[in-house]
Amino acid sequence: MLSVVPRPVTVRAPAKVNLHLAVGDLRPDGYHELTTVFQALSLTDQVEIFPAKELTIRVRGEGARDVPTDRGNLVWKAATRLAHLAGREPAVEIAIDKSIPVAGGMAGGSADAAATLLGLNALWHLELSRTELAALALELGSDVPFALHGATAIGTGRGEKLLPVLSRNTFHWVIAFAKGGLSTPDVFRELDRLRGAGQPPRIGDAEKLMQSLAAGDARQLAGLLGNDLQAAALSLKPELRRTLRAGITAGALAGIVSGSGPTCAFLCETSDAAIEVSAELAGAGVCRSLRVATGPAPGARVVDADASG
Ligand code: C5P
Repeated sequence: MLSVVPRPVTVRAPAKVNLHLAVGDLRPDGYHELTTVFQALSLTDQVEIFPAKELTIRVRGEGARDVPTDRGNLVWKAATRLAHLAGREPAVEIAIDKSIPVAGGMAGGSADAAATLLGLNALWHLELSRTELAALALELGSDVPFALHGATAIGTGRGEKLLPVLSRNTFHWVIAFAKGGLSTPDVFRELDRLRGAGQPPRIGDAEKLMQSLAAGDARQLAGLLGNDLQAAALSLKPELRRTLRAGITAGALAGIVSGSGPTCAFLCETSDAAIEVSAELAGAGVCRSLRVATGPAPGARVVDADASG
């Protein structure tokens, strides 16, 4: 009897930057109430999933040495949860090719987990809907639902209640990777500490920022970017102030710490300007490496799969 060996599935998932990240109070469950506007970027990780005897994870690319290949990896949790739901063994090899910085505030681990959910859904022909996958995604982490969603969206609750945001035009970003990472819980804790000491001020609502996105106006958007976690990230990594200053000197419209940091994102007027800012920043020696990216970009998507089923 002929048996058909399923082909591997390849999925790409995007990094995110928070254009607006308003952190509310600490909830009894240990999370903070958020209002955040996410934008997915053209900076993506690629995840390939092969049928195998047992679950294994391989990682290569950006920061691969710092990524666990066991149950400490969110991808492991994603595969075992989905297998359990489907009543099967997680018998797959998952190869992650990283471009998104590790512990960088760009939701790289969340992107890999979202890619795994989508890839296994395709490989195993589970036909779970986007809504079902989003519910599973939230069990894995606050940013995993947005990695599935992509584009530009406003998130409330833990950041997982998503509504699409109209965004015209393509925005041009320079992404500055820092030396070393920051732990997200540490940055939230530092914000609570700073607030306990009476500082820093909270950013306002996202209305004007959403209008600038609808208008596709990068200059207007630049003046409205805001991140409540930035003060905490700068408090833990003061050298980021130099990086942010250097980006403005180099000609960026604005610079912000991405999410909980330490990656910094610089909004530029054009793609040429982004290339110039990136070159200047490389010369200034204020970060580990640089990428140019555009947003919005699509959410996690299968780019190659078994076409027989
Ligand atoms: O959901 P996730 O596992 O990505 O969150 C990591 C940590 O970030 C949480 O344990 C919590 O300390 C912090 N966090 C928070 N409020 C949120 C999201 C994350 O305090 N809305």
